[in-house]
Amino acid sequence: MLEKINNLKGVIESLNASSVEEVEALRIKYLSKKGEVSALFNDFRNAPNEQKREIGQKLNELKNLATDKINALKENLSNKLEDECTIDLTRTSAPLPLGKRHPISLVRNEIISIFSRLGFSIAEGPEIEDDWHVFSALNFAADHPARDMQDTFFIQRSPDVLLRTHTSSVQSRIMTSQQPPIRIICPGRVYRNEAISARAHCFFHQIEALYIDKDVSFTDVTQTLLYFAREMFGQDTKIRLRPSYFPFTEPSAEMDISCNICGGEGCGFCKHTGWVEILGCGMVDPNVLESCGIDSKEYSGFALGMGVERITNLKYRVKDLRMFSENDVRFLDEFEAAH
Ligand code: DAH
Repeated sequence: MLEKINNLKGVIESLNASSVEEVEALRIKYLSKKGEVSALFNDFRNAPNEQKREIGQKLNELKNLATDKINALKENLSNKLEDECTIDLTRTSAPLPLGKRHPISLVRNEIISIFSRLGFSIAEGPEIEDDWHVFSALNFAADHPARDMQDTFFIQRSPDVLLRTHTSSVQSRIMTSQQPPIRIICPGRVYRNEAISARAHCFFHQIEALYIDKDVSFTDVTQTLLYFAREMFGQDTKIRLRPSYFPFTEPSAEMDISCNICGGEGCGFCKHTGWVEILGCGMVDPNVLESCGIDSKEYSGFALGMGVERITNLKYRVKDLRMFSENDVRFLDEFEAAH
């Protein structure tokens, strides 16, 4: 019997467990009523009398040893669990790579925000348009050479379905569906059949503004443009208007701003003139108002349109237009995600 006790002692001393369930299983195996240690206690009554004292003592030692061992295993496991739970919840997480806004979106949003401070609201129209909204309603005669100014992608001929060549088509959409006062800004993508190069692309972005009300005069357009130019390019910016021609405005003008790269001194960018052209504008031709169902005797208005890529080039000096649509993340990463 003493030998049995000794063997069991050795086994218990080397016990190990890696989970709470395992410790419980060991407790049952050795210490429960039917466990191995209890079984030895049961054998105790068969021990020879002269050994009873010694065996009793050893049995008690064995029981204590087993109880201590099981408790130690339990303790050990809960310490380990605690160690694993020492997560610092106050630590900031690993930084996620954040995307940046596309420079065209940044500039478009900035232009929209300047005009919205003047009370303009956003209007949108379809990119796939009919001839009437893009040309006819805007006073382009059927055989007018002005149609040749803009090489058009046709989807279907007679009736003509085409990709809009300018956002002025949104003007005709809004004027046929609303009566003045109209004060809208129309951002959007436009398409022209151009060979792709550093300076031209077959699609780009424009923003159109249209203001129609009673007594709108040319002064309103010049003041709006001056405000826009200064908000966009800084308070020192100067503007100048040159007479021009657009079928849908009369009179028409093109606006230049003092070159924001050389400050008007003359540089390569402004071809040493000190001025750079940024948009077209004018008073909405009465023919356009009438064909859209607005009484041109009661109402007048101005319109203006600009290329977003051009403004972006001036702000960020992107030399090659193709960069805007190549999705090269090294290029896109250069722009702040602030807006
Ligand atoms: N639609 C013209 C273009 O695509 C730009 C433009 C010029 C728009 C004068 C206007 C305007 O509203 O008044 O070149």
